[in-house]
Amino acid sequence: MARAQKHLAISKRRPVWAEVSLSALAHNLHAIRELVNPPQEKRKFPRRVLSIVKGNGYGHGGPEVAKALEKAGSDWFGVTCTEEGIAVRKAGVRKPILVLTSFVEGEEAPLLEHGLTAVIHRCDQLAALEAAAARRRVRRGSIAFHLKIDTGMNRLGIATSDIDCFARQLGKCRHLHLGGVMTHLASSEVFSNTPAGEQTRQQEERFYAALDRLRALGIDPGIVHLANSAAITTRPETWADMVRPGAILYGYHPGYEPAERRAEFEARLPLKPVMSLRTRIISLRNISAGEGVGYDATFIAQRASRIALLAAGYGDGIHRSLGNRGSVLIHGKLAPIVGIVSMDVTMVDVTGVPDVELGDIATIYGTDGEHSHLASLVARGIGTVTSDLLCAVSERVPRLYLS
Ligand SMILES: Cc1ncc(COP(=O)(O)O)c(C=O)c1O
Repeated sequence: MARAQKHLAISKRRPVWAEVSLSALAHNLHAIRELVNPPQEKRKFPRRVLSIVKGNGYGHGGPEVAKALEKAGSDWFGVTCTEEGIAVRKAGVRKPILVLTSFVEGEEAPLLEHGLTAVIHRCDQLAALEAAAARRRVRRGSIAFHLKIDTGMNRLGIATSDIDCFARQLGKCRHLHLGGVMTHLASSEVFSNTPAGEQTRQQEERFYAALDRLRALGIDPGIVHLANSAAITTRPETWADMVRPGAILYGYHPGYEPAERRAEFEARLPLKPVMSLRTRIISLRNISAGEGVGYDATFIAQRASRIALLAAGYGDGIHRSLGNRGSVLIHGKLAPIVGIVSMDVTMVDVTGVPDVELGDIATIYGTDGEHSHLASLVARGIGTVTSDLLCAVSERVPRLYLS
């Protein structure tokens, strides 16, 4: 943290920042790659890793983390739309970039121009992509795309019953070729005896049946991929040719169910949290028992208390529902958030934290020396997922990339 402190002392700006550890990011990528390439399998070609960098790299800065991950050996990248893909390309990334949510009308041309790979999730998109490829006068069959099949999540993807129709449409597309086939798992973290706990097995069966049908129609599916974070850690049968980690890349396991199995699954893939969100104390006051703190006085002090004001609020990404529920790390101790989180500031009770002074650093989540305040636990405390917290870190928060 010393480097960041120095940087911020010089920068003379509002003290809220996110430190992004590029060594932790590279560590997580290498750990994933090793896990999905067990030496006893003796694969001719290692399984590839497609790093999910959509949502501004889960809040870490999409182009910057993509660049660092490419250097660390990531094979592919996943973004949600053409605009995100272009930002990653402009950062200098050369590896293939898959546009997961595909294109809307008019986006095909810039998508192709920047060498991005489209996902087709409706059959009618084939004709639009083919027309855009033809306009670019590319070589026959030179534009690769991936097909997304919906296997039960009922979100994106063609129905398994539409494979024949897809094959017929593809036959009319002279400039395109199928580079890969994917599906997305809805409940891969769930192992309980519930419908969600059964869903992954059903999705796998439907997916592999759809691949068989494609092959029976004489179509090579190319790179087959379906595993997200939970499936990478817990379900080797889903690893196929390539895996698509998001949350685990940034250092956080999903909330496996049942909770009693979390420790077992997390031990399979030790991860390092990549982001630490920090701010500083900009005001300190003593209040008497019975006084209220913040909007609507939702916190009433039960004893004489020392209240610190942090220079970050929900406008920076401190989830508003942490008011009166969450805590932050100061001097290695957890200080409870008191009152409603405001847009630009947050109050914490530091009565139990010795020697607190103006300018001291508070870690909203992440690590601070040997102490940690994991975003996964913060998220669980307010009933959300880690990615929700990470993606919420707003544009006005500078990211500091530390090696
Ligand atoms: C298609 C696709 N693959 C992979 C992922 C990564 O998911 P996770 O963060 O659970 O690894 C996502 C994220 O939502 C996704 O949409």
